[in-house]
Amino acid sequence: MSLTPASADPTPGIAGGSSVPRHVAIIMDGNGRWAKARGLPRAAGHRQGAEAARKVLRAAGEAGVECLTLYAFSSENWRRPEEEINDLMGLLRLYIAKELGTLHKEGIRLKIIGDHTAFEPGTARKVDEAVARTATNSRMTLAIALNYGSRNELVNAARSLAQRVAGGEMEAQAIDEAAIEAALDTADLPPLDLLIRTSGERRLSNFLLWQAAYAELLFVDTLWPDFDGDALRLAIADFGNRERRYGGL
Ligand code: FPP
Repeated sequence: MSLTPASADPTPGIAGGSSVPRHVAIIMDGNGRWAKARGLPRAAGHRQGAEAARKVLRAAGEAGVECLTLYAFSSENWRRPEEEINDLMGLLRLYIAKELGTLHKEGIRLKIIGDHTAFEPGTARKVDEAVARTATNSRMTLAIALNYGSRNELVNAARSLAQRVAGGEMEAQAIDEAAIEAALDTADLPPLDLLIRTSGERRLSNFLLWQAAYAELLFVDTLWPDFDGDALRLAIADFGNRERRYGGL
């Protein structure tokens, strides 16, 4: 796959002279319904969902998106049956095994948001190895949210800042928006420009709540396994037609 280099333009949402979101995040919803409609087990929907993730990553890179963040496993997903959790973990290991070489070759850094250390040790280790192998890549970032919940991320940020204040490292007065941003899992990612949710649901479901403050939201009816490069290009075109005022006129 070939990727165009990410724009060096620091303006949010402006890359290469056209309006391309620097950071796109996706709530990949609808795998179960996709499978059910075909009389298949839910695992088949997740498998097709992983294939969609592969296609969308390639299209994002080609469009000049600097960072793609995918919600693969929420901190609430532990409530699913054990068999489905195991299927999702197996799929994550398979995705890493199949895609790591391509990610590295294409200069894509893998980053995890959330706490994957709660995963079974073999899976957590594979994730760590993939992150370490791609750590110095700089062409694009693929951030995968694993055992992620936005409120929990904010709780952790508040705790770490409180500890620094208690330890005399910083003044309480110095806690501002930048300090909170710097304490989030997404600290080293570009500002979130576009958040997409598939499958017709119109909720954020505890995903990137702080980061979405000024993001454009796009809800599409397509079930995630049917989302592909063309669907992403349409989403980017829709983003390009929006006027972002950040509270101004
Ligand atoms: C939501 O669909 C999807 C998930 C909870 C899992 C997302 C995981 C993947 C797409 C596969 C792994 C991807 C990578 C990048 C490793 P749902 O099951 O809630 O669907 P439903 O609402 O139709 O039941």
